[in-house]
Amino acid sequence: AHINMAHINGDKPKYPVAFAFDIDGVLVKGKTALPGAKKTIELLQHLNVPFIFLTNGGGHNEAEHEKRIAARLGLASLRHGQLVQSHSPYHDLVTNYRDETVLVLGGHGDQIRNLAHDYGFRKVVTSSDVVAKDEHIHPFPEMTGAHHALHGRSAVPGDGESPDDTRIAAILVWSSPRDWCLDLQLVCDLLLSSRGVLGTRSPRNGDASLPNHGFQRDEQPVLYFCNPDFEWATEHRQPRFAQGAFREALKGIWRHATAGKAELEYSVVGKPTETTYVYAEKVLRGLTLSPGEIGTVYMVGDNPASDIVGANSFRSKYGSVWKSVLVETGVFVPGSFPAHTPTKIARDVAHAVTWALAEEG
Ligand code: G3P
Ligand code: MG
Repeated sequence: AHINMAHINGDKPKYPVAFAFDIDGVLVKGKTALPGAKKTIELLQHLNVPFIFLTNGGGHNEAEHEKRIAARLGLASLRHGQLVQSHSPYHDLVTNYRDETVLVLGGHGDQIRNLAHDYGFRKVVTSSDVVAKDEHIHPFPEMTGAHHALHGRSAVPGDGESPDDTRIAAILVWSSPRDWCLDLQLVCDLLLSSRGVLGTRSPRNGDASLPNHGFQRDEQPVLYFCNPDFEWATEHRQPRFAQGAFREALKGIWRHATAGKAELEYSVVGKPTETTYVYAEKVLRGLTLSPGEIGTVYMVGDNPASDIVGANSFRSKYGSVWKSVLVETGVFVPGSFPAHTPTKIARDVAHAVTWALAEEG
């Protein structure tokens, strides 16, 4: 396709088209590249069309994740700075928690501890650390205890620095929790605690004179999620639970813990939230020549409840128009009615891009 790099306002370039690619179910399934993914990315690189990867996946820092994508797709090169992942907006939280301890959930081993440190969080605690300090926190250690014993640290950064050491100021979920039983218990304990100190219970819980019946009204940690997806496309025949499924499980437990009186209060980023699309647009604009104007952004995704509704409802403050293309290689079942109607349904990522480029003339 011929790309018309129209110029407006003298030397200010206008890129008529840009792309945001979902990863799982569009470019890869698990570790395997989907057909047409490599050649599609190479075509856009060749045409110099700006694009980003916009995924609800995560677990690594942006530079490492970009290398993995390049390797999985077999790309010779991939420019740095074109990936927005589920937890990328957590970069903006670092200053809020500079001197406070955060509990990080998701991943395995020291993966998320290291990632949180990479982002700039200083005092980071994992659920394995909590087990190392208090072996009775989880009454059923048989299946996961060895993992926590290997990775848990009883002394963590921040210990001894202040009397507030033991206070958890925030809980950040980075990727899918692995040991749900322990993590659900821990989150519930902290949300019922006094000021986020494990082992305590807030005297305000259940107080009908307070908002939310006194639940989460005693400086308990702020709870952050970064991936609303209930399910995602892997090598398995049917979609698998994602971070959103863990959140639903927690909501169910919370309903019981609060006798149905209180709503679980939390923050969430990741597609389809506006925060993530604003973040994505910032990254996309950073790729184009400054100040870079983009006419249409095509979001290519496989999940109507994530990629499609997010792009459909996003309103760019720079006047770009976001359109959505739903592919049939992931969560969406071909032939069914998508819960959110995309601009176009395409067989796969190659067809999606070919169609979009033709639309733009
Ligand atoms: O856990 C990852 C998953 O929910 C979705 O990844 O690339 O399809 O947004 P992606
Ligand atoms: Mg996907």
